[in-house]
Amino acid sequence: MTEPTLYDKSVAGRTAVDLPALDVPPASLPDDMLRHDNGLPELSQVDVVRHYLRLSQRNFGVETGFYPLGSCTMKYNPKTSEAIARLDGFAHTHPFQDPETVQANLAVMYRLQEWLREIGGFDSVSLQPAAGAHGELTGLLMIRAYHLDRGDGQRRKILIPDSAHGTNPASTSMAGFSVLQIPSDDRGNIDLQAVGAACDESVAGIMLTYPNTLGLLEEQIEEVTQLVHRCGGLVYGDGANMNALAGVIRPAELGVDVMHFNLHKTFSTPHGGGGPGSGPVAASATLADYLPGPVVGVDSTSDAGPPDHYRLVNPPSSIGRVCTFHGNFAMLVRAYAYIRMHGADGLRQNALHAVLNANYLRVKLRSTYPVPFDRINMHEFVCQGRIEGSNVRALDISKRLIDYGFHPPTNYFPLTVSEALMIEPTETESRETLDAFVDALLRIAAEAVENPVLLESAPHKAPIGRLDEVRAARRLVLHQRPATEPAIELE
Ligand SMILES: Cc1ncc(COP(=O)(O)O)c(C=O)c1O
Repeated sequence: MTEPTLYDKSVAGRTAVDLPALDVPPASLPDDMLRHDNGLPELSQVDVVRHYLRLSQRNFGVETGFYPLGSCTMKYNPKTSEAIARLDGFAHTHPFQDPETVQANLAVMYRLQEWLREIGGFDSVSLQPAAGAHGELTGLLMIRAYHLDRGDGQRRKILIPDSAHGTNPASTSMAGFSVLQIPSDDRGNIDLQAVGAACDESVAGIMLTYPNTLGLLEEQIEEVTQLVHRCGGLVYGDGANMNALAGVIRPAELGVDVMHFNLHKTFSTPHGGGGPGSGPVAASATLADYLPGPVVGVDSTSDAGPPDHYRLVNPPSSIGRVCTFHGNFAMLVRAYAYIRMHGADGLRQNALHAVLNANYLRVKLRSTYPVPFDRINMHEFVCQGRIEGSNVRALDISKRLIDYGFHPPTNYFPLTVSEALMIEPTETESRETLDAFVDALLRIAAEAVENPVLLESAPHKAPIGRLDEVRAARRLVLHQRPATEPAIELE
């Protein structure tokens, strides 16, 4: 059943609260200062409570069901991390406080910097960027500052594989570089020969996602980073997929100069809903001086002396501040708690388990859903929403999955695979859940042949059925009122 909006339910004169009786003489305001119709809906308290509660019960999240959204990584957020982030000492401090009064908070940030540095094999870390894409922009600005300092202003090109996440070329353009797209080879790797051919003194660097967006390890990553270094370029590592590597592979050792972490993907901080994110950036010695500041430094003392003293410092050639205050502190606390809870061995186990779960699904599904690069994958894999004997599309399969109680995987990404379905189960899912997901996909494949309309008109069990996505994009309705205003038409 469709839930009407609060405006639809509004009844003139109805209110949600009774104001207490006046204890001062009433005074009337001039009529031209009164707002007679503020355009807000008029409702009772119970109307509002029921409306929002009903809507909340229609939400689908990782706490209601399996959410295998490849590349976006919908990890379960442990309740312990949530409870820790809400402790008064973390939640009730203010970024304007004198650092001397928040030494413990700075200690959390310092240790997180150190752990991220260690996990990636880097020299230094800044916790400032507010998301993965923001980390990309930050790293690229550092690369630009490095080349400019060396009088190498002609280095304006960034090489990016055709399978890359859309934020990579977007961040590149924002940082003032141009993008040179490099094709993938027939095993899903970046094409080594094409990289070699592109390397010259106009190249500022390369952006590599590792494992790449097909969920595959680049088989010649060291050759690629060497080619780029040899021509004077630097290597940006898109570390969004570190959840497959933490405790197993350290990207800096493969030649990566600067990399962001997505805390939500690797360290289970909350994702989505437009809330604050965090994309710390780690740099090798070559770029460490350019990191955004302030970062947290420490004056260590001996065991017998006073406690360590933490302070905010700016790296010597810092590109400056990229975020207000110290980054999104509550996310940093959650990541700190997550790393602390798991320890080095636990992080490694999580990565291995995520990889195992994703390979289990690939092998179970590959005879029904073609896997274009059918080799051992990491934490996610890409298959195709094509069923032999049917014309249904990836979108139809995804919509039908909703009827089976599963969130669809990522659709139509990466762009190098037609009808792509990108599946990432994460490490928290049990074998029973994975088997139930496989069963649903196999039943949907049978339906695709026997009764394709069932898929093409899905979902049937969701509160809202199939949307006309083209119309929704072209005829934007951005607000509820006033009804007389025309919708915006995009042609
Ligand atoms: C490979 C890759 N790079 C970059 C990003 C951008 O990260 P964010 O969404 O935190 O900006 C993502 C998003 O999850 C991603 O999957």
